[in-house]
Amino acid sequence: MKAVILISGNGSNLQSIMDHADGIDLQISAVISNNMNAYGLKRAEIGNIKTHFLDPKKFNTRDDFDQEMIKIIDSFSIEVIILAGYMRILSPLFIHHFSGKILNIHPSLLPKYPGLDTHQRAINASDTHHGATVHFVTEKLDGGPIISQEVVTIENNDTASSLAKKVLEKEHSLYPKVIHWYTQSRLKLINNTATFDGKIL
Ligand code: GRF
Repeated sequence: MKAVILISGNGSNLQSIMDHADGIDLQISAVISNNMNAYGLKRAEIGNIKTHFLDPKKFNTRDDFDQEMIKIIDSFSIEVIILAGYMRILSPLFIHHFSGKILNIHPSLLPKYPGLDTHQRAINASDTHHGATVHFVTEKLDGGPIISQEVVTIENNDTASSLAKKVLEKEHSLYPKVIHWYTQSRLKLINNTATFDGKIL
């Protein structure tokens, strides 16, 4: 199945998806970033994957930016869009255009802690557990139907960065696993609900 991956930063999830691509029947047609300095762009180049940098400063509105991204993505005839650390809010225009085809990974046990600083927020709340979530992307930020989660234990001596490291390690196996379900057509968004083998998740 052909995919485009959107990134903004380090791209460790991108790397893990690239490393698993053959085994999960995924062909990465391009990697697109809104950040010229995203290390993920380097990772893609090393992996011989086409890259695009789209400069937000060159567009007047979010819709203009996303319209250009739609144009680029449509040129690849892809079936899935994978957000892997893409730090820009997507317009309803974009989300509707690719409805049911956009996956995201978020570093918290959603619906807890949508948005930023999830690790510190979990520590501040004295949570005993934290983790990562893969979900379908809908208009509600980090609020689309949940597909799968991985849990880690928060130890007394954990800091935001030690916790981030533990969660990332889980992300690197969780995301390829879910993407594989998607490429096998086992996972679908139907009436705004995530389904697996036809059953509501
Ligand atoms: C990950 O924690 C992911 O959950 C979040 O952004 C981070 C991206 O990390 N959406 P990387 O760029 O994949 O290393």
